[in-house]
Amino acid sequence: MASRPSLSALVILALMTVLLSAAASSSSSLCREKRPMMFNFGDSNSDTGGLVAGLGFPVNLPNGRSFFRRSTGRLSDGLLLIDFLCQSLNTSLLSPYLDSLAGTKFTSGANFAIVGSSTLPKYVPFSLNIQVMQFTHFKARTLELVTAGSDHDLITDRGFGDALYMIDIGQNDIADSFAKNLSYVQVVKRIPSITTEIENAIKALYDQGGRNFWVHNTGPLGCLPQKLSLVENEKLDQYGCISSYNDAAKFFNEALRRLCQKMRTEKKDANIVYVDIYSIKYDLIANSTKYGFSSPLMACCGYGGPPYNYNIKVTCGQPGYQVCDEGSRFLSWDGIHYTEAANSIVASKVLSTAYSTPRLNFDFFCSS
Ligand SMILES: *[C@@H]1O[C@H](CO)[C@@H](O)[C@H](O)[C@H]1NC(C)=O
Ligand SMILES: *[C@@H]1O[C@H](CO)[C@@H](O)[C@H](O)[C@H]1NC(C)=O
Ligand SMILES: *[C@@H]1O[C@H](CO)[C@@H](O)[C@H](O)[C@H]1NC(C)=O
Repeated sequence: MASRPSLSALVILALMTVLLSAAASSSSSLCREKRPMMFNFGDSNSDTGGLVAGLGFPVNLPNGRSFFRRSTGRLSDGLLLIDFLCQSLNTSLLSPYLDSLAGTKFTSGANFAIVGSSTLPKYVPFSLNIQVMQFTHFKARTLELVTAGSDHDLITDRGFGDALYMIDIGQNDIADSFAKNLSYVQVVKRIPSITTEIENAIKALYDQGGRNFWVHNTGPLGCLPQKLSLVENEKLDQYGCISSYNDAAKFFNEALRRLCQKMRTEKKDANIVYVDIYSIKYDLIANSTKYGFSSPLMACCGYGGPPYNYNIKVTCGQPGYQVCDEGSRFLSWDGIHYTEAANSIVASKVLSTAYSTPRLNFDFFCSS
C-alpha cells in the first residue's frame, strides 16, 4: 500500500519543516494546526464540575463569582489551574466526563477529576482507579461510535494516542490519613501504596495508548486554613504552616518524583513530566506580599474572621458564610482551595517550565 512520496510532496514537506522550525519559538502554533486533546484525573483541585454533574450536590455562589459569574461546580471564585492550562492552548475548558449534557463538547478531551477523590480505597467512587476505568469506558464507547459512523465530532484513536494525560491527586489521601488521627510515621508508611496507585494509573493509560503524561505533585497541605483551624498543639513552621502535614506532603512528592523518574526509564517512548506544585505554592505563601496577597493563611470565603476565617460548620456557600470583597487579595478561597488570582500565578509558573522535570513546554504534546 505504501507508495513512494512524490517529489512535490517532498518539497512541501521540506517547506513545512522550514516553516515549523521558524515557528519553533512560538510552538503553540503547532497546537493551532492540531486540536489539542487532554484527559485529566484528580480531585477538587482540578474538578471542573464533575461532582455536581455526577451526584447533584450543590456548589453555590459565591463559588464561580469572578470569572463565570455563576457556580460551575468548581471550588474557587473562578478559574482553576487546569483552566489556565487549557487557555494557554487556546482550547475550550475541559467538560466533566459525568456531564451528560456536555454531548459533543468533549472535543478537547474530558475531565474525570472529582471533588474529594483519593487514590485509596481503590474501588470507591471516584478513586483514581475508578476514574481510569471511566476513561477506559469513555474511550471504548467513543471509538465504537466512530466506527458506527456517528457524525459527531468524536475523538479518534489517533486523538487518544496523541493526547495529554494529566494527574493531580494525593492531597486527600494524606489529609484523610491525618484526619483519622494517624501519626506522622503512620501517614508516611501509607505513602508507597498511594504512589503505587498512581503508577497503576499511568501504566493503565499507557496500555490504552497514552504516551504523554503531566503529573502534578501535591501542595503544602499544612498551610491550608482549614487544616490550621482544626488542629491543636501542632508545631508550626516559620510561615505558620503545620510542619508535620507539609513534611508528609514533601515525602509523598519525593516518592512521586522518583516514580516518574523510574517510569521514564521503563517506558522509553513516553513523556512523563513531573511538576513541582508544592514549591510554587509554598513560594506564594512565603512571599505572599510580593505577590499581592495580604493574609496567605486566611480564607476569603468562610466564617469566623482572623486568623483563618474557617469554620467547618459554616463553609463557603453555606448559610451564614462571609466573603471578602476582593478575592484577588487572597490566596485561599474557601480554606482548602485557591482563588483564581492565586491559580493564575500558579499557572504562569507551571507554564514557565521552571518547575518541570523534564522541562518540556506545556504544549509539547501538540507536536507529537
Ligand atoms: C487564540 O485565539 C484567538 C481568538 O480566537 C486568536 O486571535 C489567537 O491567535 C489564538 N492564539 C493561539 C496561540 O492560538
Ligand atoms: C488523637 O490522638 C491523640 C494522641 O494520640 C489523642 O490524645 C486523641 O484523643 C485522638 N483523637 C481522636 C479524635 O481520636
Ligand atoms: C521567596 O522569594 C525569594 C526571592 O525570590 C526566594 O529566594 C525564596 O526561595 C522564596 N521562598 C520560598 C519559600 O519559596
